[in-house]
Amino acid sequence: MGDVLEFKGISKYFPGVKALDDISFKAYGGEVLAFLGENGAGKSTLLKILNGDYQPTAGEYILNGELKHYMSPHEAIEDGISVIYQERQILLELTVAENIYLGRMPASKLGFIDSAKANREAKRIIDDFGLPISPNTKVKDMSIAYQQMVEIMKAYSRDNLKVICFDEPTASLSDAEIDALFKVIRKLKAEGKIIIYVSHRMNEIQEIADKVAIFKDGKYVDTVVTGEVPESQMIKMMVGRDLGDIYNELDRNNEIGDVLLEVKNVSSDYVKENSFVLHKGEVLGFSGLVGAGRTELMRAIIGADKRKTGEVILEGKKIDNKSPHDAQENGIVLVPEDRKMQGILANLSVAENINISMLKANSNKFGFVDSKKEEEVAARGIKDFNIKTPSPDKKIVELSGGNQQKCIVARWISTNPKVLIMDEPTKGIDVGAKAEFYQMICDFAKQGMGVILISSEMPEVIGLSDRIIVMRGLKIVGEMSREEVTEDGLLSMGMLGEVKEA
Ligand SMILES: Nc1ncnc2c1ncn2[C@@H]1O[C@H](COP(=O)(O)OP(=O)(O)OP(=O)(O)O)[C@@H](O)[C@H]1O
Ligand SMILES: [Mg+2]
Repeated sequence: MGDVLEFKGISKYFPGVKALDDISFKAYGGEVLAFLGENGAGKSTLLKILNGDYQPTAGEYILNGELKHYMSPHEAIEDGISVIYQERQILLELTVAENIYLGRMPASKLGFIDSAKANREAKRIIDDFGLPISPNTKVKDMSIAYQQMVEIMKAYSRDNLKVICFDEPTASLSDAEIDALFKVIRKLKAEGKIIIYVSHRMNEIQEIADKVAIFKDGKYVDTVVTGEVPESQMIKMMVGRDLGDIYNELDRNNEIGDVLLEVKNVSSDYVKENSFVLHKGEVLGFSGLVGAGRTELMRAIIGADKRKTGEVILEGKKIDNKSPHDAQENGIVLVPEDRKMQGILANLSVAENINISMLKANSNKFGFVDSKKEEEVAARGIKDFNIKTPSPDKKIVELSGGNQQKCIVARWISTNPKVLIMDEPTKGIDVGAKAEFYQMICDFAKQGMGVILISSEMPEVIGLSDRIIVMRGLKIVGEMSREEVTEDGLLSMGMLGEVKEA
């Protein structure tokens, strides 16, 4: 008999929020069980209860017939239950081996730490996983993907590992890195571990999960077998309505007008010279592999990185953005990809986080903040983006990951820019909210805004853009219109497009 993990009547209440409501189901060893649910459905909370980060308000969890109750993640790990979060939980200054054996480094007979032994044992695990890294490497010198691998190996290094959970692990990984992660997950599965995989990406769920547990508004809906139930049915179960073909059902009707933004030979230390134009009312997609230079080009345009060459012309006038703040004053905003790092003000409320870019616009002529105006802006953001929060005064960190993301996007949009640049805007946002978000992008274009959309999700760029620019090797290598674009075409241009030296 394989391992069995059972959740029995788990509830979790936060002030004003019923995050989990009487959850009961089982997960089995040798299977990958995905969690699917809208932003705020309770997925992360359930994992935090399982690993002792939170205590349940009611209910229990049982591993192989034994009632468990962890008071901390440390207790859970010692007992063979590990949760890998999107934010790294490792120590960057330490080596791979030191992280794997943190707090339990092997000791010599005389009681000294035996680094050589730790390195040998770490090397064995690294080889088991087939990874091209050394146990001596400092973790800070490795990519995010490999840092995550170290966390997985740390869990794996305990002989008693039974349950390993991943909470949106691929959000900042490239396709190749996702493949490497999936290989590791398959290995863990073959060894009979219970694997829980939380993601909003349906294609990943289809690829890696054997079963899908669906959650809605803190309740457990059902578990279905991947492949037996069509994707549209799963989405209907999580969203509560039929989404249909979200791209085909968009009300576009945007009219493409005159040139709004002209970028001429712009370069920085991080990107080569590039030129393109954006029209009024146009959604312009930017496609390319991770590292192609899309984000870097936008950063040079808004002055987040120093522009080395070139000009930025908005509505026929040359502008000089020395900082993102200048750019915002000029009417160009960038919603950054790494919203966790660059966006969230953890100690402030939802309302304050939405309003932070508006401080000036919301101030009266004496420089005092008009709190009535602030309330309006926050209320509109919460409504437009369907942000799940009991009140605008709630601290942003108490929201689910996806809802935090929505606050940041709402913040930038509330400044009413002429040019809106969005870098991977739907990362971490659930399928239902995505549909609404896409419609919002179309509406912006309809109002004459120029929208630049950087996205690694092919269907998203193809489904939304009027025109798509492809970058490779820090250069623009080609362009396709809405009519001629195909997924294959974009991909091969992004991989093979000719990079001309500037
Ligand atoms: N520490 C906390 N204090 C108060 N409320 C919280 C706290 N943590 C979570 N919540 C609330 O519990 C609910 C469930 O949140 P959870 O993070 O589990 O959602 P999720 O399914 O992981 O969503 P996402 O897909 O956005 O990550 C949300 O309404 C959230 O605001
Ligand atoms: Mg979550």
